[in-house]
Amino acid sequence: MTSPFVARLGITHPLIQAPMSGSTTPALVAAVSNAGGLGSMGAGYLEPQAILEQAAQVRALSDRPFAINLFVLPETFDVDEVAIASARKHLDDLMEREGLAVRTVRPARWAPSFADQFAALCEARPAVASFAFDLLTPAQVRQLKQLDITLIGTATTVDEAHAWAELGADAVSLQSAEAGGHRGSFLHEPEQALIGLFALLPLAVRALDIPVIAAGGIMNGRGILAAEVLGAAASQLGTAFLACPECGAAEAWKRDLPKAAEHQVGTIRSFSGRAARGLRNTYVEAMRPYEASLPAYPVTNALTSPLRRAAAAAGRGDLLSEWCGQGVGMVRAMPAGELVKVLMDEYAQARKALA
Ligand SMILES: Cc1cc2nc3c(=O)[nH]c(=O)nc-3n(C[C@H](O)[C@H](O)[C@H](O)COP(=O)(O)O)c2cc1C
Repeated sequence: MTSPFVARLGITHPLIQAPMSGSTTPALVAAVSNAGGLGSMGAGYLEPQAILEQAAQVRALSDRPFAINLFVLPETFDVDEVAIASARKHLDDLMEREGLAVRTVRPARWAPSFADQFAALCEARPAVASFAFDLLTPAQVRQLKQLDITLIGTATTVDEAHAWAELGADAVSLQSAEAGGHRGSFLHEPEQALIGLFALLPLAVRALDIPVIAAGGIMNGRGILAAEVLGAAASQLGTAFLACPECGAAEAWKRDLPKAAEHQVGTIRSFSGRAARGLRNTYVEAMRPYEASLPAYPVTNALTSPLRRAAAAAGRGDLLSEWCGQGVGMVRAMPAGELVKVLMDEYAQARKALA
């Protein structure tokens, strides 16, 4: 039952392991690709050299297709010194109150250069490249096509999906409200572009003539089949892979995930300056009064980076950015290759039951 899109990607299953910046590892990506899905490297936070190294590590573990994903960002950012000073004070005060011996520092750069990351991606030449946060330029799209790299754009509304289709994307990853991690919105305020998958997916499928990938809250094979019934060419699962041993998420985060209930999952701006879905823990509640005034992404993201590293090292999940989607209660801790097999067995059984 391989869809033309899945066949084009050269994979066996209609299953994409979502790129998860800071959490995907070459071992995770390779395990998913070796099991017949499409593994994706979340490279948004990586410097160009690290992108090349990780791609080489994936290739040492797998000869199957895989994806590299980047956040499309400008080369320079608005820097409001007053807002930065105020954010640092609130963050440092919180660390002191919580007994964590770490303070914010002003980094040399707020984020890696997107132009350099893009050049590294082209050099690594994965089968698939996916992008979030904004559109590419037409010249960048041409470059990917010349290299025969399949292009997937991320959209959170039908308008955004249209924009990617017009630009020449080969497929759109449709990120619904349920999805874990950062919102990929670029034409609308992320907090306003929170559309559930059951509404968003058929709307986008009706409007587009390129394949649509369903992303958000899909945690089992039945979900993958449901997305297919609604018109998806494949499903992209992030949270489902977070508790896998190959995943690079902090141990405290992995421990907290299976205990989390859907009502504890919210849209959070205070870790990075951009809306993202995750667990509302101690940090989130403490920073809530300042959330709206924190500098926009990537400035707050860079300021909290050492704090999040220290929280992970101290096993303090309550102070970490514990990103996850609304389906988190269904997360399963098992090797990624095994999880792909379980998901696809469930998918086959659900299909049979409905036949
Ligand atoms: C921890 C985490 C990190 C993520 N990082 C990225 C990323 O770097 N790039 C991206 O395009 N999407 C990222 N996402 C969003 C996923 O691509 C996808 O939309 C989402 O995981 C789907 O929802 P689910 O988590 O409910 O499966 C991330 C999601 C999670 C959970």
